[in-house]
Formats: sequence, structure tokens, C-alpha cells
Amino acid sequence: MLKKVQELLFEVENFSPKNTEELEVFRIKFLGKKGVMNDLFAVFKTVPNEQKKDFGQALNQLKQAAQSKLDECKDAFENNEEYGESIDLSRPVSLDNLGSRHPISLARNEIVDIFKRIGFVVSEGLEMEDDWHNFTALNLPEEHPARDMQDTFFIEKDPDVLLRTHTSSVQVRYMEKNSPPIRTISPGRVYRNEAISARAHCIFHQVEGLYIDKDVSFADLKQTLLYFAKEMFGEQTKIRLRPSYFPFTEPSAEVDVYWGLESESDYKITKGTGWLEIMGCGMVDPAVLKNCGINPKEYSGYAFGMGVERIAMLQYGVSDLRLFFENDVRFLSQFKSTI
Ligand code: PHE
Repeated sequence: MLKKVQELLFEVENFSPKNTEELEVFRIKFLGKKGVMNDLFAVFKTVPNEQKKDFGQALNQLKQAAQSKLDECKDAFENNEEYGESIDLSRPVSLDNLGSRHPISLARNEIVDIFKRIGFVVSEGLEMEDDWHNFTALNLPEEHPARDMQDTFFIEKDPDVLLRTHTSSVQVRYMEKNSPPIRTISPGRVYRNEAISARAHCIFHQVEGLYIDKDVSFADLKQTLLYFAKEMFGEQTKIRLRPSYFPFTEPSAEVDVYWGLESESDYKITKGTGWLEIMGCGMVDPAVLKNCGINPKEYSGYAFGMGVERIAMLQYGVSDLRLFFENDVRFLSQFKSTI
């Protein structure tokens, strides 16, 4: 008999009604006039005296448990009126209002992942920089005309504090702290004092890469960039390198990918050539290695840098760069993903 009472106690404790009707059935079953409790108290009268104590205690415990379950559930239903009586706590969460990653984050993560797969590690630095790390160490001494290529926001003069114009500054810091072999990728936000248009902004994002070891050649650079372009834009992608100039690399080049000339918009974005510039690159100038404490007679290296907005515009077919900065949910929610 005692076992039966324990089973009933278990049932009471695990009872969880979905609505008030179920709760009423429970009440009638346990506490109603013809309910289980009354039956058991009738049985109680017939048990031998020496068992009365244990049995009585068990019965009281069961009665109390049933009563408090009833009160507890009643309370819960009353306080949840706004959800009606059919609150179902086991229902899956609604995913309707899931946020989305910003397209710039998506593009940056993809670029970084591609380089991580071939052994590059991520390095990050400061958005406010000094003159040395943003310019001088990179072979751009004061009054160097190439400083005009990157119109700068200064915060303080003498000593200079400025908003970094590229993440090459992170590479300088990385070289100062680490010795070769170096394989690092530096994603980050950069600033230039430029008029805002569909193709340019005073704030944008870059990913720059740096590889330094013994006997690194231009062929290594080209092969790495071809690998990147194929991973990013598809196996059929072709690239070309055009000679260019950067103060911190020698020789320097600009990298184009072949975009094709199939549609009118292809003509527009490639200016009728079919080719699209995606980044700058070159062999690190020996003077830069020296400035950062690396012996240029022993080591050589390559560097490259690209704008994330530009890659994202190509990847997602966005024609106006300003859309990335307006935070219009109608634009952003198009990049919704389920991960
Ligand atoms: N730092 C250059 C820029 O911002 C890009 C670059 C990096 C070019 C490395 C060559 C090598 O324009």
C-alpha cells in the first residue's frame, strides 16, 4: 500500500498541466470527494495499528503535495493570462527576428579564413597611430610626396597622433615584436580624408597580409594571390599583375581579376576592359625590414593589401559603397544567414 502511495506522489510531482482543464481533472482525481485521497483515508482505517504511523505520514505528504501542486499551477495560469491558457514551454523558439551579420564582416571573415587555411595568423593593432608606425617606418619620411596618396586625419600635431590610413601599421608593429618566419594577416578599419561617394568613403576596411622568410620570391606572392582569387571568386578566376608604386614595396604591383564583359554592368564596373583592380602588393622594401629590426640580407618578404568594401561590392553585387555605412535594416536583412 505504501508503494502505491509513493507512486502517486511521483505522479503528483511530475504533473505539468497544459491548461486549466487538465488541472481540474487533476484536482478531481486527487482531492475531489470521490478522489484518490478519500479512498486512501478509507483504507487507512483498516490498516493494522503498527503501520498506521508510516502510512498516515505518507498520506499527509501526498495530500500536501497535491494541494501545493494545485495552488502553484493555478497561480501560474492566472499570472500568464496574456498568453492564454495554452502556454507551451516546449515550443521551439521563433527564429523570425534573427539578426544578420554585416556584409563587411561576412566579406572580411571570408578573406581572413582563406589566408588562415594556408597558415597566416591574424594580427590587430590600434586605430589611432603615431607617425612612425603609419608612415616613417614604411619608408615614408616626412615631406615624402607619396604621403599625399593617403590623405590623413590628424588628431594631434607634434608628436603626431593620427587615424591610421592603412593596416600596414599593424604589420610594422608585428615585425617589431616577432622574428621571421612571419605570416600574418591584418584586418581592420582605416581612415582617409576623402570625399564620400559611391566608390569612396572616409572610413573603410582593409585586410593586409605580410609574409617574411628566407628566399621569398615574387613567384610566391603571385601564387598566393592566385590561390586567394580562386577561393574568393571561383576556380576559373584569372588574375594579372600590373606594375605600380608603393613606397614600402619594391617592386610593386596592382592585382586585377578578370571579371568578364558579359553584361552592361560588367562594362560599367570594368570600364570596358573586363579587368577589375582588387588590391596592391609587392616585395617588402629592404629599408622597411631594416626599420623594423629584420636583416634584409637574410630575409625577404611580400606584402599585399585590399579594401574589404570593394571585395564585398563585387561579391554581393552592391553598386554604392555608402550602403554599407547607412545601417538600413532593409539592406542589412538581405544578408541574413541561419548561422
Ligand atoms: N597599404 C597599401 C594601401 O593602403 C596597400 C598595400 C599593402 C600595397 C601592401 C602594397 C603592399 O594602399
